[in-house]
Amino acid sequence: MTEIEPIRWENEQLLLLDQTQLPHRQRWLVMRGSSQVAKAIREMRVRGAPAIGVAAAYGMALAARQVRKRTMPTFLKTLEERAAELSASRPTAVNLHWAVALCLEAARQCPTPEEARERLLAEAQRLQQEDVAANRAMGQHGASLLPDSGGVLTHCNAGALATAGYGTALGVVRAAWETGKRFQVFCTETRPWLQGARLTAWELVQLGIPVSLIVDSAAASLMRTGEVNAIVVGADRVAANGDVANKIGTYSLSVLAKEHGIPFYVAAPTSTVDLAMPNGDHIVVEERGPSEVTHWAGRQTAAEGIGVRNPSFDVTPAKYVTAIITEHGVAKPPYEADLRSLVAARSPEAVA
Ligand code: MRU
Repeated sequence: MTEIEPIRWENEQLLLLDQTQLPHRQRWLVMRGSSQVAKAIREMRVRGAPAIGVAAAYGMALAARQVRKRTMPTFLKTLEERAAELSASRPTAVNLHWAVALCLEAARQCPTPEEARERLLAEAQRLQQEDVAANRAMGQHGASLLPDSGGVLTHCNAGALATAGYGTALGVVRAAWETGKRFQVFCTETRPWLQGARLTAWELVQLGIPVSLIVDSAAASLMRTGEVNAIVVGADRVAANGDVANKIGTYSLSVLAKEHGIPFYVAAPTSTVDLAMPNGDHIVVEERGPSEVTHWAGRQTAAEGIGVRNPSFDVTPAKYVTAIITEHGVAKPPYEADLRSLVAARSPEAVA
């Protein structure tokens, strides 16, 4: 199959595969500036922690091209405003804030706006390539953890679409299949946005990996009947103690896994590890609009006037996580020391 890469830089243009239209339509959106990138992230046309990080880095490159200021102080002032707009587009995934901060720092090191423009495009391209490489490395580290046969359950979409390519949790699934393991995958539909049904199922069908779609509430029953032998999910932010923010429903899967003695793995690049966050209690969980819950396919399915809570993520305490697979190796409980050394393998200054 051709590799799915949801973010492209072609002919000096940023193209995003519109994930709100999948699997019915493959529509590419041309981004005209950083505000459009921020809007695309807000509207989840591009989504998944690593993917929104890379998209935001390209957003910074577009911003640098848009800002016509001639002196560095005025150029940087406007660039900082664009950076703030990108950073505010979604709160939970740290990759977004990490990538924007990294690009801003790179711009600050440039003597002229012209150099900053070139540097930021190079930074975005580097982050994109590094993300694919990290995912492939995660696959290598994680493949041996998955069973040779039986069932592997995943939640939401942590595949190529959620990254620059190859995927985190689905990258591990893929790598295990490439080594000859022959399990079957269960993917949860992932209410309310249906990342599992619309995106993960689509990716796995294209890869030729057997996948059965289940409603979110079927997971417990499949675990009880012994059909699930391992769970692997992605992450939006991993705190220093190993607490994991990921798509709503991850927490309940982890508790169920513990009850049934099933290993629960998290696959995430070190760019998703936030050592400044001591534990998951302070992670900001995005709450999305009520219509995602009250409507289905554009039609209202809940009573008019109903109150709604729609947290888009939850925090899984580290005690429910069997291991965290990164591109530099696998962290084991009690996570903090392992996570620090794995992050240091990417950037020693991040743990200084
Ligand atoms: O709201 P989304 O679709 O951006 O949420 C995505 C997830 O929760 C993923 O599991 C996570 O970002 C890891 S993606 C490699």
